[in-house]
Formats: sequence, structure tokens, C-alpha cells
Amino acid sequence: MGRYREEPKICYCCYHLLLVLCLCVWFPSSSSGNAKEEKGAPVGHGYSIEAVSLDSSRKSLTAHLALINNSSVYGDDIQRLTLFASLETKDRMRIKISDRDKKRWEVPESVILRRSHENSPEKLGILSEKRVFLSYSTSDLVFTLYNTTPFGFSVSRRSSCDVLFDTSPIKSDPDTFLVFKDQYLQLSSKLPVDRSSLYGLGEHAKSTFKLRHNDTLTLWNADLYTAILDQNLYGSHPFYMDVRSPSADGRVKAGTTHGVLLLNSNGMDIFYYGDRITYKIIGGVIDLYFFAGPSPDVVMQQYTKFIGRPVAVPYWAFGFHQCRYGYKNVSDLEGVVTGYARARIPLEVMWTDIDYMDGYKDFTLDPINFPADLMKGFVKKLHHNGQKYVIILDPGISTNKTYGSFIRGMEADIFIKRDGIPYLGSVWPGPVYFPDFVNPATEIYWAGEIKRFRDILPVDGLWVDMNEISNFITSPPTPHSIRDDPPYKINNEGIRRPINNKTVPATSLHFSNITEYNAHNLYGLLEAKATHAALINVTGKRPFVLSRSTFVSSGKYTAHWTGDNAATWDNLAYSVPGILNFGLFGIPMVGADICGFSGNTTEELCRRWIQVGAFYPFARDHSANTSIRQELYLWESVAASARKLLGLRYRLLPYFYTLMYEAHKKGTPIARPLFFSFPEDVETYEISSQFLVGKGVMVSPVLIEGAVSVHAYFPAGNWINLFNYSKTVSHNTGKYITLEAPPDDINVHMREGNILAMQGEAMTTTEARKTPFRLLVALSSSESSTGQVFLDDGEEVGMGEEGGDWTLVKFKSWMSGNTAVVKSQVINGNFALKEGWIIDKVTCIWLDQNAQFHIAERSDISLSIGKNINMVMKLDQ
Ligand code: GLC
Repeated sequence: MGRYREEPKICYCCYHLLLVLCLCVWFPSSSSGNAKEEKGAPVGHGYSIEAVSLDSSRKSLTAHLALINNSSVYGDDIQRLTLFASLETKDRMRIKISDRDKKRWEVPESVILRRSHENSPEKLGILSEKRVFLSYSTSDLVFTLYNTTPFGFSVSRRSSCDVLFDTSPIKSDPDTFLVFKDQYLQLSSKLPVDRSSLYGLGEHAKSTFKLRHNDTLTLWNADLYTAILDQNLYGSHPFYMDVRSPSADGRVKAGTTHGVLLLNSNGMDIFYYGDRITYKIIGGVIDLYFFAGPSPDVVMQQYTKFIGRPVAVPYWAFGFHQCRYGYKNVSDLEGVVTGYARARIPLEVMWTDIDYMDGYKDFTLDPINFPADLMKGFVKKLHHNGQKYVIILDPGISTNKTYGSFIRGMEADIFIKRDGIPYLGSVWPGPVYFPDFVNPATEIYWAGEIKRFRDILPVDGLWVDMNEISNFITSPPTPHSIRDDPPYKINNEGIRRPINNKTVPATSLHFSNITEYNAHNLYGLLEAKATHAALINVTGKRPFVLSRSTFVSSGKYTAHWTGDNAATWDNLAYSVPGILNFGLFGIPMVGADICGFSGNTTEELCRRWIQVGAFYPFARDHSANTSIRQELYLWESVAASARKLLGLRYRLLPYFYTLMYEAHKKGTPIARPLFFSFPEDVETYEISSQFLVGKGVMVSPVLIEGAVSVHAYFPAGNWINLFNYSKTVSHNTGKYITLEAPPDDINVHMREGNILAMQGEAMTTTEARKTPFRLLVALSSSESSTGQVFLDDGEEVGMGEEGGDWTLVKFKSWMSGNTAVVKSQVINGNFALKEGWIIDKVTCIWLDQNAQFHIAERSDISLSIGKNINMVMKLDQ
């Protein structure tokens, strides 16, 4: 496989002495399109460079590209393109390829706000006629344009010369050429197959967290079962994280990580072969963003700085949630609430699925089974108990002529249209129209409907479902329409099903004539955005929204659950990669239906599921109307596990909530893959069945039927079992070990170097917040231990600086001879002081040089958490 470009690839950093600082325009002589048609080149022939200009004031490079030869497969090629590369910040590079002569669809700025450029000192350079570099002295990212026929470009690191992305075409493989047609865009990059581990590119149900080679990842939002692996699902996130293993020359350190976003909302297939990634997209433009990292944590900070930080959820959202499709009536709901109370299992939030509606119409109550007066009484009682209530909403508005929401929707003219009239779909209520959330008037309509309903029933949160959009019918395509039937068939449903299958047809129109073809993947994002705004408007409090369909930046508005899983052991296992993926997508508040949605769960499965589900950021038991009941109190062994595990979750609530604060401020996930804390340990890149909560708590669940042990990986260090401190794991290097996992137990370990600020167990988060704090310090002989706790009222719309009163306490502890120093630094202590929170116990645990376990405890204290602590504890060995 020969390359067009004969020159050896030499990275920018090797050339930096030759760099010429200038602003220039370059017209290379070799750019005219004269390449011969390649045999077996079915879709395109690539582009050559006509001219390049560097703009020092915009810190960017613009190249004019000309088509080499037309190919009519998937339509004609676009003749003239513009490539625009810009170092937007020192950590973010944008590379955009678009039609030079005609404006094309792009994800609008109103949907995802692109942050402005940062000023940074710069070096821009042109090196030779063969290559042009875009490089800044402050940035590790270097863009190189190759004047080959066809042309190519790469993104590499200045510090190590590691090539992150390289689109140089391979002559014998037309799949590697840039192709740019109206409805077919193709871009392919080489990857170092043995050194690159990729994560992300969802949403799909996956058996492994690390993407496997030879995977086809299709993005087209669809209401499909998560029980089937690898099919496109509800959301589209064309973002991946690439964690690199060390290079042979030692220049690339293990765990050096970057992120890549293709900001495009059209349907696409992404082929990942291990040594290449190839995008095949059916519209829009190529708009790539590279996030420099260099660690997984920092990539998330950079990525969410760009797409928007995750929304803060209320404190109560970290309590346990119970839902079911198929609750019969109000007394059924009441029975469930009582069942939890009797079993002494914490229940924070009761949910109702579409059953509460009258004829499945949004914003109505079934007058027989869920009448308004009884429902009001039920919600009042929940609130009296310190519990919350959440209901489902579907986008489809019934076309029943006497239905208020329909009448008002027609008056406001906010429905998606096809052929000039509202498009008629069919969902739970039968015939429906779908509100067009692209239209600003729809936000007003939607907020109005929510307000009207909430005036009747003061729900605390909203669950927006079926927003891919799911449609029970597939309408016939408009004859000869290239939108309804595009020439390139993405691998929809894993069988290249038409994109119109069971959704709104692609020829339908949104506000200002935006086609469904282009905006399809944005619907769930826009509905969540409108719902989030409506809830703030009517409650004045921090909203809680749960959306099934998501897109890049949905985390700014909503939590997510992984959709319709099945009550099987496989699905239990898939929940771990599922949750970790949404952490990478900037949606840290995520969970899977605990005990499984469809099919009948079993006592053992439900027990194992609540054991791990208690550590999902969003912990909700939910089942289908055709499944057996699966409330946690129904089996004694499940109830016992629920008490034990939710007990630990509730003690850890301040930790979960502080992780929400970190997510909201920096974008770091709540549930994290092991490589977030141990990027230098390449073994962690493969792990799909364990995860971290924050930086220091590791969950190693049983995911196999009948198993009473777990084979788990422990990165180097001392690990302390959170249920039995004296059960420790200690290794100088990372190791797989087999641990006992009896039916009622799950392995949860805390690593040395961490401090957890915990509170007491209770039946509600409100009650738990009234208990004193206890510090659990896992001391280390090699490092200081750290931890922090964020405190506010848990429902102020803003969190931290943008909210009301708050306190942040940073803890630090270290060993000094036979004492431990425990210190805190309080930022904004007034809130904590006002609330009167105290620390009444400090427990230090550590292993000595012989790996012997020790514990030291002080429980004779009553320290205000709002004041700096400086405590010395005696450590008796
Ligand atoms: C969808 C949702 C599921 C819900 C059902 C009925 O399948 O994913 O959670 O229970 O619709 O509303």
C-alpha cells in the first residue's frame, strides 16, 4: 500500500528551528487536479490544495481545495472546498471543511455555543511547499497540511511528535480519501493500532467500554432496544477519547489522552478498524475539534468547557428512585411508598409512567385511576415525608380536537410540518403532532403547558421520553426525495434500514425550513433544554430533567438513563460501559434501569443489580408493564442488599453531591473509568466491569449469575474495603485478584490517599443531611490524602459561585511519625456555620510496611465543618 506522498513524515517539533514566522499566501504548483482515476475508487478521488493563507490575527489557516475528479457514486462531488484550521485556545483546535460556494447545514450556534477564541502568544509558520504548519508556542497541538495529491492533514503533539489524527490518503484505498458531496461526506484518519485506545462515540449498548476494532458505530437517534448490542440508540455523541499507550521511543507517556469531536448532527456511520477511523456522514460539514488533554480528566474539562458544563441536579436526585410502567392507580403508588417505608429501604422519589395520563395525553390525569384530588393528596403526602414526585412526558401531542394542549399547539402553530401541514405520527395516544422545539415559540408553548399542569399537580421533576422522535408508524417517503431516501444508507438498526423508519420523515420541516434530515438528532437536546427552562420558570428551583434522547451538550440540561434494557445478566454487565460512556459525553447524571426493564427479573439478578445500581450516579428501579413487579422490598434478600448498599450510598451522599459540583464546574464524570485515576496503568484501559466513583472509591460488582467471587483489577496501592476496613488489598503494581463476593455483598474499596466526608444513613436525603459528618481518612505513607465536600441547600438554581450560599471544605491529611495531621481549608464557611453542621468523628485507616491494617479513631469531638480544622491524631501501631 503505497502513499501518494513520498516524503517521510517529519513532525513539526523536529523542524521548529527552520520555522519562518510570517503571514503569507501560498500557491503551490502541484495543486492542479491531474490524478488518474483509481481502479476501485468508487466514491471519490480526493482534493488538492489550490492556495493556503495564514492569518496571524485570527490564528488560523485557510486552504482552498479543488476536486481532483468527479465521481457520481452517492451524488456529485462538490467542486471547491474551504479548509479552515484554527487554534481556538491553547488546548483546542478546530478543523472545518465546508463548501466554498454554498452555505450548508451546520449545528447552529444557538444550539451549541462555540466559545470565543482565547488570546495566546503565537507562532505561525510555513515550512516548505510540501507542508504548512499551524502552531503556537503555547499549544501542544500542531496542525500540518500536506501538499500531496490528494491532499491530507494531520494533528500532532509538539511535545512528543505523537500523531493524533492523520488523514493522508492511501492510494490503494479510496475509503481513506476525503469525499465531499451533498449527502455523503467521508473522512478517514490513521491511528496507531497498538497504542491507541478509543472510548465514546455513542449511543450504543456495548459489552466493552473500550471500543473494539472492526466496529461500525452508527449515529442516528432511534427508539431501539438496548438489549441488542451495537445498534444505534437514542442519542448521538460523535466524540471520542483516545488514551495512548507509551511509544517505543519513550516520548509518549502512558495515559496521554486527547479528545476528538465531530460536530455534526446528520446521520453517520463511523468505522473503527483499530488502525483507522473513518467517518461516513450524510450531510452537514466536517467540523472537527481536538482537545489536547493530556490526561483523561483534563480532556473532559476542555470538552465540557466547549460544549457546556453539566447541569447541577438537586441534592434529592441522588436519593433512590422507584418507577414502573404499569402502576394501576393511586393506591398502587401509595402501596409502593408504604412498602419501602415498611422495609426500611430509603425511597426518595416516586415516579409515574404514562399510566397516570388520560388516554396517554400529556398534561392530563386519568380521571378514574389517577384523579386529580387523589393525586394531589398523594403528592402532598410525599412532600410531607420529604419525598419527591416525577412524571413522564412524551413529545407527541394527541390530535383529539377537544384536547387543550392540542388546541393551544395549533393556535401557536408550533408543530413539525410536512407538505405544509403538521406531520401526523402515531404514539401512545394514537394520532399525534410533534412540537417543533427548533421554533422559539415552542419553548413558550411547552412552558405554558407545564405550568398549567404543575398548577394542578406540583411535580418535582420531568422525564422526557420517546424524543428521538419515536413514532409507531413509518410514513411513506416523498417520491424521489433525496432526503427521505438518501443515496448512502447508514447502518440504521444494524441492517441499513431507511432513516425514516419509525420516526418523523426526513422531509418534514422545522422552524425556518430546517429539515428533519438535518435536525433529527437535535430533537431530544432541544426538548430537554425547553423542559429545563420551563421547570426553572415555574418552580424557581434547580430543575431535574431526565431525557432519553441526547446530543452533544445535552448535559447542560438533563440527566439520562440508558433506556430500555432487559432483565438479563448481560444487560447488567452492559450497564457499566453505558454509564461510563455518558460520563465522557458530559452527562454525568446517568443510570440504567435497576433490576432490568423488559422481561422478568429474578431475585438474584435484582439483588446483584441493586448492589451495583446503588453506585450509579442516577439510581432508579424501573420495569415494563409486561414484567413482574420488582420493587426492592419484594424479596427479603434483595431488601437486605438494598438496605446495606443504599445505606452506604446515603452515607456517601455528600461525596456524590460534591462530585456533582466537580462535574458542574469542570466536567469530570461522577462514575469514572479506572484510567481516570490511573492513566499510567495501561491495564486499566481494558476494564469494562469495574468503575470508580470520583477519584478514590472503586466498585467491583458481580455481573455473572451464580458467582460468589469476583475477579477484579486493583491498580497499585492500598485499597480498603468500605464494609470491612480490615479487609484490604495491597500491591506495589496493579494486579487482578479474586475476591469473595457472597450473595449479599459487593466489593467497594477506597484507595489510600483519599478522604471521604460522610454523613449518616436515613430514609430520605433531607434526614441524612441532618446527621453529623464523619471523616474517613485512608492514610498513605507515600502521598498526602485529600478530599473535599461541597455544601449548599441542594436546590438553589445555580451551584457554587452562580448560586446562593455555599461552602467548600478541602481536607488534607498526612502521616508524620506516629501521628496523622488532619487539616481543612474552608472556602465560604458561612453557609456551613449557619446550618450548624459538625464533624463528630474522624477515622484514620492505614497499612504499615508489612501491609498490616491499622485504625485510629476520635469520636470525642464536635468540630464545626465551617471552620478550618487542624488536628493531630496519635497513630498507635
Ligand atoms: C419507553 C421508555 C420506558 C417507558 C415506556 C412507557 O419505552 O423507554 O422507560 O416505561 O416507554 O412510557
